Amino acid sequence: MEERESVFRRQLVKVHNVPLFWSIAEEWAQVETFQARTDDLLIATYPKSGTTWISEIVDMIYNDGDVERCQRDAIFNRVPFMELIIPGMSNGVTQLAERPSPRLVKTHLPVQLLPKSFWENNCKMIYVARNPKDVAVSFYYFHQMAKMHPEPGTWHEFLEKFVAGEVVFGSWYDHVKGWWEKKKSHPILYLFYEDMKENPRCELQKVTQFLEKEVTEEAQEKILHHTTFQEMQKNPTSNYKLLSTGEMDHSVSPFMRKGITGDWKNHFTVAQNERFDKDYTEKMAGSTLKFQMEI
Ligand code: A3P
Repeated sequence: MEERESVFRRQLVKVHNVPLFWSIAEEWAQVETFQARTDDLLIATYPKSGTTWISEIVDMIYNDGDVERCQRDAIFNRVPFMELIIPGMSNGVTQLAERPSPRLVKTHLPVQLLPKSFWENNCKMIYVARNPKDVAVSFYYFHQMAKMHPEPGTWHEFLEKFVAGEVVFGSWYDHVKGWWEKKKSHPILYLFYEDMKENPRCELQKVTQFLEKEVTEEAQEKILHHTTFQEMQKNPTSNYKLLSTGEMDHSVSPFMRKGITGDWKNHFTVAQNERFDKDYTEKMAGSTLKFQMEI
C-alpha cells in the first residue's frame, strides 16, 4: 500500500510571496473568503510575540475576570487560529463559522494577506509586537517542538532564515511595519510584549478602554494574576498541553518556555548580534516603530 506523506515537517509554500504551511497554501481560497462579522475582535501577531498571552487577557475581559469560565476550553478553541488548516486535524475557518458572536479570532497573517471582510466590516483589531531577537529565539525552540514547521536546523542556520524572512508568515520586519502603517487608517490597538512585561496593569487598561469594556477593580486583579507567565504555564487550558504530542512535543521544549525579555543574550554570539543590529538598522530605517531589546 502507498504510504501517506506525513502532514508534518513539510516545506513551506508561498502565497503572494509569503511562506505559509503547505496546507494553508493549498486551502488558501477558504482563508481568503473568510467571512468576518462586525463584532469580531481580531488578535494579530507575528508568531511568538505574545499571542497566547493577549488571547487569555482578552478572553478574561470578555468573561468579566471569571477564571472558571475561562477554563471552559483550551485557548486554541476559545480564540481559534483562523488560517490554520491541517487536513484531518484543524480548520480555523470552519471552526469559526460555527462559533456564536462575539468571536475572538487569532491570525498570524501579514496585513496584506488579511481576508478583506475584516476591513469591510471595520473589525476592531489588537496587534502585539515583540522585539525580533527574542522572537527569533522563541521561534527556534518552537520549530523544534511544533511539528508543522520545517526542521529548523542549527541555531545559526535558523537565524539566517529568520533574518531573510524564509520562515512561516514571512519577514518579521514586513509584518510589524505593515500592521504599524495600517494603524493610521484602521482601529488597531498596537501593543508591545515588552510593555506588557514591564507594566501589565497599564497595558490591560489600554485593552479594556479600546474594547470599551467596564472591568471592576476585583476583576482587573484576577486578570492580572491569572495571566502571569507562572499561572498560564501551569494552566492546561492555556499552556497547549491539551494538544497531541504529535503536534507539539513539550518534552523537546515547552510552549510556555521562559516568558522573559532578553533571553536572546543567551543565544546570540557577539558576531551574530553585530550582524543582526546592522541589518535591523537598515530594515527599520525611516520607520517610527521602536523596540526594546531589553527591559
Ligand atoms: P518564550 O519562548 O520566549 O518563552 P505566542 O503565544 O505568540 O506563540 O508566544 C509565545 C511566547 O510568549 C513564549 O515565549 C511564551 O513563553 C510567551 N508567553 C506566553 N504567555 C506569557 C505570559 N503570560 N507572560 C509572558 N510571556 C508569555
